[in-house]
Amino acid sequence: MSSGLQAQAAIQLYEGRSADYDNTWHVSFAERFASHVNFSQGQHVLDLACGTGLLTYIEADAVGPTGRVVGVDVTPGMLQRAMAKKQRESARFAHVEFHEGDILSLNTIEPLQGQKFDVITVASALVLFPDPVAAIRHWAGYLNPGGIVAMDSTHPKNLVAGIVLERTAKRLGMEMPYHREWSKSEQSLRDVMTAAGLDVVQVVTIENQSGYGKREYDVSDGIMQFISNVITGMAQTIFADSEVRRKAKDIFEEEWEKLAEHGKIEEVDSVFLGIAQEASQILSEDVVFSGGCRCGGVRYRSSAQPSPITFCHCRACQQVSGSGSLPFIEIPTESLRMTSTITLKSLWLSEKAERTFCGSCGAPITMKYISDGKVTECYVTMGSVDTEKFKGEFPKIEQHIYVKEKALWEVLPDDGAPRYEVTREDDMRAQSA
Ligand SMILES: C[S@@+](CC[C@H](N)C(=O)[O-])C[C@H]1O[C@@H](n2cnc3c(N)ncnc32)[C@H](O)[C@@H]1O
Ligand SMILES: [Zn+2]
Ligand SMILES: [Zn+2]
Repeated sequence: MSSGLQAQAAIQLYEGRSADYDNTWHVSFAERFASHVNFSQGQHVLDLACGTGLLTYIEADAVGPTGRVVGVDVTPGMLQRAMAKKQRESARFAHVEFHEGDILSLNTIEPLQGQKFDVITVASALVLFPDPVAAIRHWAGYLNPGGIVAMDSTHPKNLVAGIVLERTAKRLGMEMPYHREWSKSEQSLRDVMTAAGLDVVQVVTIENQSGYGKREYDVSDGIMQFISNVITGMAQTIFADSEVRRKAKDIFEEEWEKLAEHGKIEEVDSVFLGIAQEASQILSEDVVFSGGCRCGGVRYRSSAQPSPITFCHCRACQQVSGSGSLPFIEIPTESLRMTSTITLKSLWLSEKAERTFCGSCGAPITMKYISDGKVTECYVTMGSVDTEKFKGEFPKIEQHIYVKEKALWEVLPDDGAPRYEVTREDDMRAQSA
């Protein structure tokens, strides 16, 4: 099935569901899904197969107005509902946008060209795609360095009639508009994310997805299941031909029976939720230095030699460090790779600079100056560096900046390094003015 056909099948399946979609368990599941992802203010998020925007809007509130959230879906009816919510609260959701398109060919969606995101979410949709590994690999191309993806796949006993239908269709040389067969365990989701080139951060099982928990059927219930799915339900149009439908009934009952254990067929209302990260592209032998926070939730690697050390004595550095100053080293932004971001939080104290820190142990990690969405300067805190493993030349103290904001109690060290009221450039400008 080519991506175009998959998208057409999805539209057929979801256009009719769109009117009632927001009255289903998907509302509460979107909340639960989001609670497993560590969003922070200012992040850029891409919500793929966003549907009516249930998760998109939770993300919008989580990243706040300095962030950006983009929802993409292929079913017009779903997307119209998503957009209507933005219209109703245009100020609150000014940082949310929606685009119609096939998420298997994001390159055809013009506003996404050249765009990268910190988080990509795909809720209740991964199993709609015939080749999950290819799909994830495609999406991962839109991740920022260190960015994460979050997606769920079905438990094999979740809505068992669905699995039976998939097997029935396969035996008839047909296809259902979903592909659940590969998703057997938490490990299956780990495997597809790894095969797509990502580092798996975590996979958990979420129980009670739609509220039925667990239930049991008898072998003789097969015919009822066939009727409710194929004669009156979602698979009507797929098995429309009466000859096909007759064959399908026999195969369905056969496959249904095969699932029985001690005469019973168990149904389990669970899904697997996986979080993965863009794999570190810095090989161990290329690492010049590494670092991280106290609790280990944040780790990074640098493939470049850093600049000498700058001590910043500004008030913000005092407050976020709880000290007189924060020592930083500068590295080219592309040589920094986050290898764990489980507890990483972002903090904007001004519009120009983003600081990151560990949300669990509190350690300050990076400071990046950003202009027009691009990082112009990238610093890491000296205290986070694993100094004992440092390769190459160890950085020396170069300068003290923002001395004009120096804490009253602080005594500057007699280290011979120049001291600037603001920065070297600012001080020179002030002198020549
Ligand atoms: C079960 S809904 C999930 C919606 C939303 N993520 C949520 O959690 O409420 C699946 C969505 O996937 C969308 N979809 C399926 N295939 C797609 C494709 N190739 N491109 C874009 N969207 C797709 C459908 O239109 C539908 O809105
Ligand atoms: Zn930490
Ligand atoms: Zn500072």
